[in-house]
Amino acid sequence: MAEIILSTGRGGTGKSTFATLAARHLSPPMLLIDLDPDESLADMLGFDLAQKGISTISDKLYDILEAGKSGQEDPAVALEKIGSLIETECLYKGDNEIDLIVLGTKLTKGCYCMPDDLLKGVMPIFIDRYANVVIDSPAGLEHLNRKVVSDLDDIFVILDPSSKSLQHIGRIRDLTEELKIKYKNFYLVANYGFDTEQQTYFEDSGQNFLGKIAFDPDVAAYNLSGQSLLKLPESSPASLSVKNILTIANLSR
Ligand SMILES: Nc1ncnc2c1ncn2[C@@H]1O[C@H](COP(=O)(O)OP(=O)(O)OP(=O)(O)O)[C@@H](O)[C@H]1O
Ligand SMILES: [Mg+2]
Repeated sequence: MAEIILSTGRGGTGKSTFATLAARHLSPPMLLIDLDPDESLADMLGFDLAQKGISTISDKLYDILEAGKSGQEDPAVALEKIGSLIETECLYKGDNEIDLIVLGTKLTKGCYCMPDDLLKGVMPIFIDRYANVVIDSPAGLEHLNRKVVSDLDDIFVILDPSSKSLQHIGRIRDLTEELKIKYKNFYLVANYGFDTEQQTYFEDSGQNFLGKIAFDPDVAAYNLSGQSLLKLPESSPASLSVKNILTIANLSR
């Protein structure tokens, strides 16, 4: 049974960077799940999903519904085999045993309920095959409401140095309780913007604070040029700090 890890936090704190760098240091085989409509994980892994011939779950669902409308195939029949459709058409199999599934953008105005439900339904099939599953969530808390996964092992909240981040921690805790989302560990991680004083505040706060992700100009440069963060040098400060954080959490390989 896989360790299920959620990377969450406010907008732009470094959730996707953390999820991608974590993939370098967790034991394979591992699955990255991108719940963000911005679909940034494939970019951070240095490839274009469509060019690889892989669909997002939302795109697949859209195709099924459109085929239904035009009478090509009954959506109910297509949805019966959704597990194998997602496996063959939505699962990117990385050659380094780091696989990726992307939820994708909204189908129509409103909600993600259908693609979420599909993902929720097929998750148990996939989870069993991996040693680690890392879920990269969009900013905000809507994804928790949608309960794509309600049984997590580790929640990593990536913080920026703002009072809003502090409030955010409380809101995540309240929401997980309200929605009965189970988790074993709730960790706080400072992003690259923290200064020493702000870091000390969290170290002394009595919360499960695991440290700071160091600023690393290569992260931004790799993101800009479309290079995979998995190819950052061993000495990358950001990668080393994520390794250190995972080691403290007993998760590093
Ligand atoms: N350790 C770091 N050093 C330097 N730049 C970083 C670091 N971590 C993240 N960044 C930069 O910060 C920006 C935001 O990072 P990222 O996309 O990981 O945040 P996010 O929380 O996933 O954002 P969103 O809420 O939009 O999903 C990116 O431009 C990234 O290159
Ligand atoms: Mg992101």
